[in-house]
Amino acid sequence: MRPLVAGNWKMHMGPTETRAFFGAFAPKGGDGAVQVLIFPPAVSLSVAAGTVGTDGPVTELGVQNIHWEESGAFTGETSASMAADAGARYALVGHSERRHVFGETNAETALKVARALATGLIPVLCVGETLEERRRGDLETVLLAQLEAGVAPVVASPGAELVVAYEPVWAIGTGETATPSDAATAHGLLAGRLAELLGSERAAGVPILYGGSVKPGNAAELMASPRVDGVLVGGASLDPESFSQIVEAAPRVR
Ligand code: PGA
Repeated sequence: MRPLVAGNWKMHMGPTETRAFFGAFAPKGGDGAVQVLIFPPAVSLSVAAGTVGTDGPVTELGVQNIHWEESGAFTGETSASMAADAGARYALVGHSERRHVFGETNAETALKVARALATGLIPVLCVGETLEERRRGDLETVLLAQLEAGVAPVVASPGAELVVAYEPVWAIGTGETATPSDAATAHGLLAGRLAELLGSERAAGVPILYGGSVKPGNAAELMASPRVDGVLVGGASLDPESFSQIVEAAPRVR
C-alpha cells in the first residue's frame, strides 16, 4: 500500500494561514507515491478544499472530529455530512485529546465511527495508552479495548474503509517518541487483532499510522518499522517545510 502521511493541525491554522500553508507546501518528488492527508480545523476545510487538486501534493482532507448524530441541537458541533460537504473525505475519531481532554468514551467513539461510515467518510480511528497504563502493564488491554469498540461498526459494514492510528498519549506533543521497536510491537498487536476482527485480507488493506512527536528526523526510521504504514503528525505538520520533509521521508515502495 502507498504510505499515508497525515497532518493533524488541531486548533491551529484559520483560513488565512491555511491558504498560506498550501501556497508554500511543496514536497519534492510529488509523484503520487505518498498519500498526503491534512486535517485542518473545520472552519478551514472549505479553503483547503479549494486548493487540493489532482496535481497538488495534498491528496485528501479530513475533519478532526464529528458528532455521532446526523444533525440537531448540538451547539458548536460539526456533523459528518457538513464536513463531507466542505471537502472532507476522512474523519479523525477518538484522538487522545478528544478522549482525555473532552472525556470521549469508547462507546462514543464507536458511534462516531458508525456515523462516519454512514456518511461515506473514512474513519481514522486513534488508539493509544497513557504512560500510567503502559507502566501498569495495561498496554494490550487498553489498545485492544479501544480498537474493538471502534472497529465494531466497520465489521458490520462490509467494504467500508478504515485507517487506524497508534498514538501513545505520552508521546503526543511531548517530544518523546516511541522507539521503532515500541511502534512495531503495538502495530503488530493491532494488526493481529484487526485480522481476527475483519479477516486477514480486509485487515491487510487497513493502514496503521504511528503518531506522537513525529519529526523530519525520526519519520523515516519509524516508517521503516514493520506495519508502520504511515504517520499522523501534529506539531510538525504546521510548518510547510518540516511537513514536506516528513512526506519526503516516506518510503516510495512498499
Ligand atoms: P504531535 O501530535 O505530532 O504534536 O505529537 C500528534 C497527534 O496528536 O496527532
